[in-house]
Amino acid sequence: MKNLIISVLNNPFLKSIAQSKAIKKLAFRYVAAEDLQNTINIIKELINKNFFITVSFLGEHFNNKDKVEEYLTEIYSLIKNINENDLSKNVSISLKLSSLGLLFDFEYTLDNLSKILDISGNVKIHIDMEDSSLIDDTFKIFDILKYEKKYSNLDITLQAYLYRTDRDLNEKILAKQNTNNLLIRLCKGAYKESYDKIFPNKKSINENYLKLAMKLIDNIDKIYPAFATHDINLIKKIQNYAHLKGVSYDKFEFQMLYGVLPKLQNKIISEGYRLRLYLPYGKNWYDYIIRRIAEKPSNILYLLFSFLPEKNS
Ligand code: FDA
Repeated sequence: MKNLIISVLNNPFLKSIAQSKAIKKLAFRYVAAEDLQNTINIIKELINKNFFITVSFLGEHFNNKDKVEEYLTEIYSLIKNINENDLSKNVSISLKLSSLGLLFDFEYTLDNLSKILDISGNVKIHIDMEDSSLIDDTFKIFDILKYEKKYSNLDITLQAYLYRTDRDLNEKILAKQNTNNLLIRLCKGAYKESYDKIFPNKKSINENYLKLAMKLIDNIDKIYPAFATHDINLIKKIQNYAHLKGVSYDKFEFQMLYGVLPKLQNKIISEGYRLRLYLPYGKNWYDYIIRRIAEKPSNILYLLFSFLPEKNS
């Protein structure tokens, strides 16, 4: 169903009307702003409300260097702004390696991420995980930079819908991770994948999520886990397991998408847990928004109604 919605919304006709007021209004429930300055203002407001933030400049799947260079320039100013505003304690940057050239040049991507890390100062840099065709290269780059070049502020994401993730966690992370300087984001996974790669249904994905979450908590001496989900059942089970294991509230966090289930977000903070919002910004919001729309059917109704002719008053 989710994949069908995504293909329909990728239709060129719908994309062409994407600038319509209705879809823009919907977009800015989930996207901070189109520009950096307004995004920094929103970040400050959210920090005042006790949120942690991971900020993401939108843009992915670039297939030429011009787009990557533009992207890099923005990431450099983002880092500069976070440092100048003294926000690095609460704000990390999330990015996708397909924004740095992974679709066409491995060495170039590695070099780009090294440059970002070289100037990052205290800002943590978090790698989002993309579709399975990019996972091996993503882990290779992570491995070189985190474990060979020893960039301590580099973090990574795991996707619970993949059969391979448990092995990746064991072999690519737990076997190498000695000090506690790694945040691992655990999410369910958002891409269209073939059936031989992913667990067959919601129930089995949730079971694998919980199994991985427990393994992360069991390795709390090596890892700072970030549970990225809006699934209240999973959240409760993770909280219970952490308490059972005597893990204190500052040793892990939850993560949610900006704009998704704000009441639940506030509740988690009021209970004393850490919550980091994934906060995207930038002009390239369409692809991000269609993934969010596909996750919530009522958003589709909202859009369908918005395409009806407006009544003349
Ligand atoms: P699930 O889809 O089961 O939803 C649980 C509940 O949340 C349901 O009640 C649902 O209705 C509600 N909900 C979910 N999305 C909603 C929305 N848009 N609007 C309103 N309600 C909504 N994926 C990936 O492949 N690579 C990555 O790097 C990341 N990074 C990432 C970071 C963060 C901070 C988050 C929260 C998520 C990701 N994801 C991701 C996306 C993730 O894989 C997944 O697709 C979504 O989070 C939805 O899955 P849930 O775990 O929320 O569960």
